Amino acid sequence: MPKFHKLKVREVRRETPECVSISFEVPAEVRSEYDFLPGQHLTLRTHLDGSEIRRSYSICASPMDGELRVAVKQVPGGLFSGYANERLLPGDELDVMTPLGNFALQTDPSAQRSYVAFAAGSGITPVISMLKTVLRNEPDSQFTLFYGNKNSESVIFREAIEGLKNEYMTRLSVHYVLSQEDPGIELFHGRIDAEKCRKFCQRLIDVEAVDGFYLCGPAPMIEAVRSTLLEYGVDEQKLHSELFNTAGATNLESKRDWAKSGGIATSHITLTLDGKTYSYQHNSPSETILDAGSKVASDLPYACKGGVCCTCRAKLLEGEVEMEVCYGLEKEEIAAGYVLTCQAHPKTEKVVLSFDE
Ligand code: FES
Repeated sequence: MPKFHKLKVREVRRETPECVSISFEVPAEVRSEYDFLPGQHLTLRTHLDGSEIRRSYSICASPMDGELRVAVKQVPGGLFSGYANERLLPGDELDVMTPLGNFALQTDPSAQRSYVAFAAGSGITPVISMLKTVLRNEPDSQFTLFYGNKNSESVIFREAIEGLKNEYMTRLSVHYVLSQEDPGIELFHGRIDAEKCRKFCQRLIDVEAVDGFYLCGPAPMIEAVRSTLLEYGVDEQKLHSELFNTAGATNLESKRDWAKSGGIATSHITLTLDGKTYSYQHNSPSETILDAGSKVASDLPYACKGGVCCTCRAKLLEGEVEMEVCYGLEKEEIAAGYVLTCQAHPKTEKVVLSFDE
């Protein structure tokens, strides 16, 4: 079960004019709870202007760095990202959830693999953790990174990436793709879209030799790269992606009016969390199970409420639900009965869910 602990901010480091990284002091007694795989994220919780705010941010450190650090890019009007970039100081405390996330890479020192990542903007955050860990922990593996940004000033972790390039010259290839600055080579000017990806596959990637593709960025980039790689015959099992722009995510599909269509008028819901069982009558088809259930069980876990982070994942034990969107769950999890409660609406008169499985 994911759990919050109050952690002290150790350092707030400016990475670019629009992005800071934040490291935390993790007391010895809870340290093992913060073990993570490269690619996973933390949910941060605090109160701003009288409201509780929760946001998920990917861990940018490698498990081998011995620190817990996330990167927070300032988004226009973003309440938490503005606070983190402008006001957060070392010594401040935040509630930090234990690490979560399926977009993760497990390294093996004896493996000889080839990895390719496509990242855009702050989508580099989980990827840099993967990249550092592979280079340090899999000495026979190769990593190729395609990293899209507006211009060279907005490249997050440029210094760290360049340092890794120098240290692992024969094992790491990095290709920056800039949309608002001419890098001098047409191939690297523009956005990472299907056409660019095709060219990269023809000229720079030995597609068949790649063991894992990791895509992280806004939905249009992920969809374009994913469909191009499938065109090139890449096995779906080798494709891993994480959507990194929930604003983009909510634009992907128009919101359905659940009060008028699809939802069942009333359903009896049973939820298990931390060994305790809660029951309630779900009488509002437009409300998600997470929102309605939180009125009876105040600690139901959530972060993004956008179908991305999977913090609200629960196993459906009885009945049926329908999700509005589901970006975060893997196919195998869906097949095993897991659902995202922040997106789920009951479809049967009785629904039983467990957050503990
Ligand atoms: S809270 Fe993030 S997927 Fe539901």
